[in-house]
Amino acid sequence: MSACAMSICSFAQNTVMRAGKIKSASIKAQEVKITLENGEANVTVYSPSIIRVRLNNQQLADDFSYAVIAKPVETKSTITQNSNEIVISTDSLKAVIGKNPFSVAFYTPAGELINEDEKGLTSSWIGTEVTDYKKMQEGERFVGLGEKTGNLDRRGFGYTNWNSDFFGYAANQDPLYASIPFYIGIHHGLNYGIFLDNTYETDFNFGASNDRFSSFSAKGGELNYYFIYNKKVADIISSYTSLTGRMQLPPLWSLGYQQNRYSYYPDTEVLRIAQTLREKKIPADGITLDIHYMENYKLFTWNKERFADPKAMNEKLQSMGFKTTVIVDPGIKVEKGYEAYESGLKNDVFIKYSDGQNYTGQVWPGWCHFPDFTSEKGRNWWKGELKYLTNTGVSGIWNDMNEISTWGQKMPNNVLFNYDSHPTTHLQAHNVYALQMARSSYEGARAILNKRPFILTRAGFAGLQRYTAIWTGDNRAEDDHMLAGVRLLNSLGLSGVPFTGMDIGGFTGNPSVGLYTRWMQLGAFIPYFRNHTQLNTKSSEPWAFGEEVLEISRNYISLRYKLLPYLYSTFYEASQDGLPVVRSLAIDYTHDSKIYEPVFQNQFTFGKSFLVAPVESGKDFMKIYFPKGKWYNLYNDAEESGGKEKIEELTIQKLPVYVKESSIIPMQSLIQSTVEKPTDTLSIHVYKGSVPNTFVYYEDDGTTYDYEAGSFYKRSMTYDPATNTIVMNKAEGKAASSFKNIALILHGFDGLGNIKVNGTNYSLQDGSISFLSAISKFDPQGTFSNADGCKVKMTVFRNESGEMKIVM
Ligand code: GLC
Repeated sequence: MSACAMSICSFAQNTVMRAGKIKSASIKAQEVKITLENGEANVTVYSPSIIRVRLNNQQLADDFSYAVIAKPVETKSTITQNSNEIVISTDSLKAVIGKNPFSVAFYTPAGELINEDEKGLTSSWIGTEVTDYKKMQEGERFVGLGEKTGNLDRRGFGYTNWNSDFFGYAANQDPLYASIPFYIGIHHGLNYGIFLDNTYETDFNFGASNDRFSSFSAKGGELNYYFIYNKKVADIISSYTSLTGRMQLPPLWSLGYQQNRYSYYPDTEVLRIAQTLREKKIPADGITLDIHYMENYKLFTWNKERFADPKAMNEKLQSMGFKTTVIVDPGIKVEKGYEAYESGLKNDVFIKYSDGQNYTGQVWPGWCHFPDFTSEKGRNWWKGELKYLTNTGVSGIWNDMNEISTWGQKMPNNVLFNYDSHPTTHLQAHNVYALQMARSSYEGARAILNKRPFILTRAGFAGLQRYTAIWTGDNRAEDDHMLAGVRLLNSLGLSGVPFTGMDIGGFTGNPSVGLYTRWMQLGAFIPYFRNHTQLNTKSSEPWAFGEEVLEISRNYISLRYKLLPYLYSTFYEASQDGLPVVRSLAIDYTHDSKIYEPVFQNQFTFGKSFLVAPVESGKDFMKIYFPKGKWYNLYNDAEESGGKEKIEELTIQKLPVYVKESSIIPMQSLIQSTVEKPTDTLSIHVYKGSVPNTFVYYEDDGTTYDYEAGSFYKRSMTYDPATNTIVMNKAEGKAASSFKNIALILHGFDGLGNIKVNGTNYSLQDGSISFLSAISKFDPQGTFSNADGCKVKMTVFRNESGEMKIVM
């Protein structure tokens, strides 16, 4: 080696510290404990498809996580070593640990390389910042990473995780409110997931400013990551949520339409909004109260002038079929005599500087202290305080400003947190503060109400799906924000969070009539469907943009309500396997390069059946990409074969939506709120196709946790084109279905005259189905008229809970 090269090398050693070689390794059944030249490592088989790697340049720390709730699953593993490497194999995954230097590579059982440490760089520290460098594979793409703006394929970009409040953020802003350090890599027909379980500020580089590696870093703490390999992206999401948990079933009402603004007050105005929704026949389930319901923004108070009798108002709303959600912020105003402040002080729940003085930061009410949600004491205190709201008939808790947001947006790092008996500073606790606030709200409200609360949060961390829905904060009423919002939700979905929303219509600014219309249409296909707008903006209720927009909004909100059996079943699926409700096409069409093209990257599926193409305002035509298979136009059943793009002519009355072949879609009659019972006939739409498909239908009371004790009604329904049958398995669960009859509605089955249901003959009738009502008054060209509809074959029969075999 030349003298010059030597000096660069020793310079590098002084600045970048490598893990070095393995000095010794001890092998247990499914775990390897490693002593390194510089520190310790531990590699553990977590399940056949998950291997965890930990690395510390000191001793490994106490193993504690807010994100991961799973313990390693007992897994048949083979671990062998020679002088160069240690090889760990399960049925599904192989890890090869290089000994000099310490490095990790992952292979499929067949020996295909999935992912490997960049050989020259491996893992290293710069001061306290630890980084793992992975070799960038040819053609590698990266998706996910939670609430991140940017393209669906993140290659060429870098991102930071540090929960941040950006009012009216830019459509490419980073970081935003929530941190989920989990992404999925895709190359050569393979896909894998990496979850970095570290709550410090983390950085991800997917080939930004370099052509050599992708990397992930943490400003402090350990390199602690889970490597997941499954053949399908959907299974990677399931594996990831087997670690970080899955959502609980939400209350059914929270899937209905929610009307918001900053802020509706006084009580008469809230009731007027509710009344108008009913009068105008706009189905709705929720009204949300923003900070003006409080007295001077003080938490756990009601402004008595604006809301003299909140309990009576909430009762009145309930009698009209509405649930009330109220906003809560973590800041407790420093004010002598104010109950929450005094009791917080008395119970010593606030976060403190290192000298023991409570931290004070400024937010809506002025100077505030902040409860330590990372301590059990803090969480319990919060749960107790929540009674003040739930006692007045509140059903939903909207957790805001929990990044922690304070004016100045520079919370000091020398503030201390309990971190569940692992005392630490703001540096490590910042990103999990919101997760623990949402947890406190969820656990508190669930215990008090003894039924499902609705919990919403702005900030969060990996695992937030266990407690809460999330929305994407203060977006702008601009086209690119609507599209960026779709990608944010799709990315959250890829990262294990199914219950997501964005401010429909845009939070800051005023949307054009066209944009508002397109956004409301889209809202019908978004898990949390909430219209919200800022203080001092134009009204944003569906009637505020003229008669035509009102009709279009009503049409799509009504469709949403008719789709509730499908949507609720999709939420059930999310609660079981972690799959999202809005699905990036990267989930089902991972290796189709078309779906990553910027022009198509905003398309998504709503559940597994509906392909939705968001439309910017003012567009008359748009290009749509149909992934493989066959697709039916939702509005007229026109068939499109997949694997091709098409230019569609647009009308303002309709959002481009298509149904995948072989889909099974249960629907109900129109209701104005989930309090109202639909008719006792469940419409099951089946779309003729060439591939078999199974849909798991799920029902329960929609409000309690009785389903945990078996009180539900569930059956899987399989359409098999090879045998021309639809088989509805015997229903499982203790509850009866609320539907006595089934209307079977067949799309694309022209010429079929009759079917047999468990051997009994039923003749089919010709019918015409419109998923939207005609609004031809506004459509002189007749592009949307009563003639628009789907020609179907249909019949009605009893819904038996035993197996039902339909032969076509
Ligand atoms: C924050 C929230 C916004 C809310 C406002 C007032 O900006 O993100 O949704 O309306 O605070 O509470």
